[in-house]
Amino acid sequence: MKKILVTRKLLKECEEKASKVFDANLNSNDELYSQLKLIELSQGHDAVLTSLTDKMDEATINKLPDSVKVISNFAVGFGNIDLEAAKKREIIVTNTPDVLTDATAEIGILLILGACRRASEGIKSAKESNWKWSADYLIGKQLTGSRLGILGMGRIGQKIAIIAKALGMIIHYHNRSKLSEEKEQGAIYHDSLKSLFSVSDVLSICCPATKETVNLINKETLEYFPTGAVITNVARGDIVDDEALIDALNRRKIYAAGLDVYKGEPNLNPGYQKIKSTFILPHLGSATKHTRTAMANLAIDNIDEFFKTGNCINKVN
Ligand code: GLV
Repeated sequence: MKKILVTRKLLKECEEKASKVFDANLNSNDELYSQLKLIELSQGHDAVLTSLTDKMDEATINKLPDSVKVISNFAVGFGNIDLEAAKKREIIVTNTPDVLTDATAEIGILLILGACRRASEGIKSAKESNWKWSADYLIGKQLTGSRLGILGMGRIGQKIAIIAKALGMIIHYHNRSKLSEEKEQGAIYHDSLKSLFSVSDVLSICCPATKETVNLINKETLEYFPTGAVITNVARGDIVDDEALIDALNRRKIYAAGLDVYKGEPNLNPGYQKIKSTFILPHLGSATKHTRTAMANLAIDNIDEFFKTGNCINKVN
């Protein structure tokens, strides 16, 4: 039986599955392993099932024992893993696409609604019972008829587009390549960021964090937006330069931000805390029982597939 190290606690039925398929070294206390501890624990293991909280950088990967052949990430994103370093050591890296598309798109829509309709301020006032109805109380931005720019039209972006269209939004997008008409479903393609941002009343960031997308939302690109635009991010915190966005919010260039992800999670840049309109969640994109179960099972299956066939359909390096 292959031996695997599971770095974070999984849902019960997924841990049972892991222990059925493998000799699984589980983390029942859900301790956040340091890089050093992860390296120590992985001795004698054939695979490591990681989470987005594990920073698998070059130095860590280089110190993994030769026995480790697979790093199976319990996430669709793999910005926490140095793919090249893994490749050099002939370790395959896998992810969990598709199964989290719906749940993550739901949160993407929640961010748009929450930021546009001033949900943070509304929740606070309602809980404190310190509000009074009036014709102009907590007036927000209406989605119907607004233009939604989607940055990164992969599976999650496409699902957000379908829901947002049903809400009456007009969909624009930028992607590395134009989609087929069938996948576009009437969305308007822009071949540059500037072109997309200039028509985005609301932006939904859905692209992966890569060297090319780090700080894509910055001092310069924020100026491309119409004044009063709303920025939402359901992808990765690394894509946004927080200081630039906080400054744009304070200047009212940007009306509101809806973030499920941010740099340095779980520590939020204090600049956001001071801005009442920010609608911020603690990385809940895939957090439903159905989805987290499917993701963990897929992460386990990816390892199994590799050891049975020598390859894996969800290999990303
Ligand atoms: C969640 O953020 C994921 O990448 O799966």
